[in-house]
Amino acid sequence: MAAVDLNGMLKHIRAQFLLDWQGIHGAPHWSRVLDNGLRLAERTGARADVVTLFAFLHDSRRRHDGNDFEHGPLAADYAVELGGHCFEIDDAGLSLLTVACRGHSDGLTEAEVTIQTCWDADRLDLGRVGRRPDPRRLCTPAARDPALIEWAYQRSIGAAARTLTPHKISF
Ligand SMILES: [Fe+2]
Repeated sequence: MAAVDLNGMLKHIRAQFLLDWQGIHGAPHWSRVLDNGLRLAERTGARADVVTLFAFLHDSRRRHDGNDFEHGPLAADYAVELGGHCFEIDDAGLSLLTVACRGHSDGLTEAEVTIQTCWDADRLDLGRVGRRPDPRRLCTPAARDPALIEWAYQRSIGAAARTLTPHKISF
């Protein structure tokens, strides 16, 4: 398990974040990804520490809200940079986290289950940009549960009223 200084990590992330903190790829989205991921992890057996770190890091290096193809790899590099400072995690956990961050917007569905859970947690929040999550693009049976999709979708729609802006996203 990882030991995370969440407040310290968020302070560090916010100091370098280039986009709107409350925007479609900002903190409200990250907190819903965290909720989605932890709920999924109870069913998939994913590592909750990796899911938590993914939620706060995966979009932290975005340079714009469009198809920023480099933001996944940049987030993976950032995770390595913050590791040992803002959180402690074993090598296997850091490897899962970096792979999850690196590929999260590539549309992939096949991966180790913790990585799949991270990707599903993110994709379940697509309602904030006017898209209902497509079960065919979700990785795990747990995420494809219609009741879970609806729960996540309704939460994301509520947030969209506050944060929606015109844009394109990369998956
Ligand atoms: Fe995201």
